[in-house]
Amino acid sequence: MSRSLERPALAFVALALAALALLAAPAAAQQKQGRKFPELGRAATAAEIKGWDIDVRGDDGKGLPKGKGSAKDGEELYAQHCAACHGVFGEGEGRWPEIIGGKGTLTSADPRKTVGSYWPYAPTLFDYVRRAMPFTMPNSLTADETYAIVAYVLSINDIVPDTAVLDETSLPKVRMPNRDGFLVGDPRPDVKAEPCMTKCRSEAPRVTSDLAQRLGVTPGRPSE
Ligand code: HEC
Repeated sequence: MSRSLERPALAFVALALAALALLAAPAAAQQKQGRKFPELGRAATAAEIKGWDIDVRGDDGKGLPKGKGSAKDGEELYAQHCAACHGVFGEGEGRWPEIIGGKGTLTSADPRKTVGSYWPYAPTLFDYVRRAMPFTMPNSLTADETYAIVAYVLSINDIVPDTAVLDETSLPKVRMPNRDGFLVGDPRPDVKAEPCMTKCRSEAPRVTSDLAQRLGVTPGRPSE
């Protein structure tokens, strides 16, 4: 390379390096923040996460909020917010779901899955009612109202007495009738069996029907 060409070439390399550095800098900054696509949305605030973080664990009630409610107060709240669809006693209006009864029907030809017959954990009822009911206004009830309605629904299912008052410590202690009706782990044998991948056949394959041959979809044997 001649001397006169060397300088512009060097300058070009320097420029290219500078451009690369410029391109790489924001990428490095993004990686530092752990955000791959900073142009899409923004990180959720703590308050927003708290608003969504309402799950209650079934078996021990972890996540239940402080509060309490009686089945007695629940009766009126239920009449106001729930009875139009689920019926005054949980029997279900029209085609809306029933939430009482059905005990002993799970193994019958007509299983009726209700809070009383099917649900394994009481805290799940709190979680579900708070996040999903009333159907048209989910997550609109206070913690106290939800405890009261849950107590009422459990009482009409004969799971707690109608004098019951439930809170974050007593609700997880309520034992549901179908508590032991669920299996942990998959009971189907075929999903646990180890598939055979090599030398799976102990004897040579045998032709059991000549149908395919008669239909002319199998080529004849070499001797034929
Ligand atoms: C506008 C009608 C309506 C109202 C009002 C309503 N629900 Fe529901 N509820 C439904 C429907 C529909 C479902 C089924 C939802 C689904 O399967 O996704 C349901 C499901 C349920 C279930 C689950 C039933 C099961 O075992 O699968 C419970 C429990 C329940 N509602 C309780 C309540 C309570 C408590 C209230 C009052 C706070 C209430 N609902 C208000 C319509 C309603």
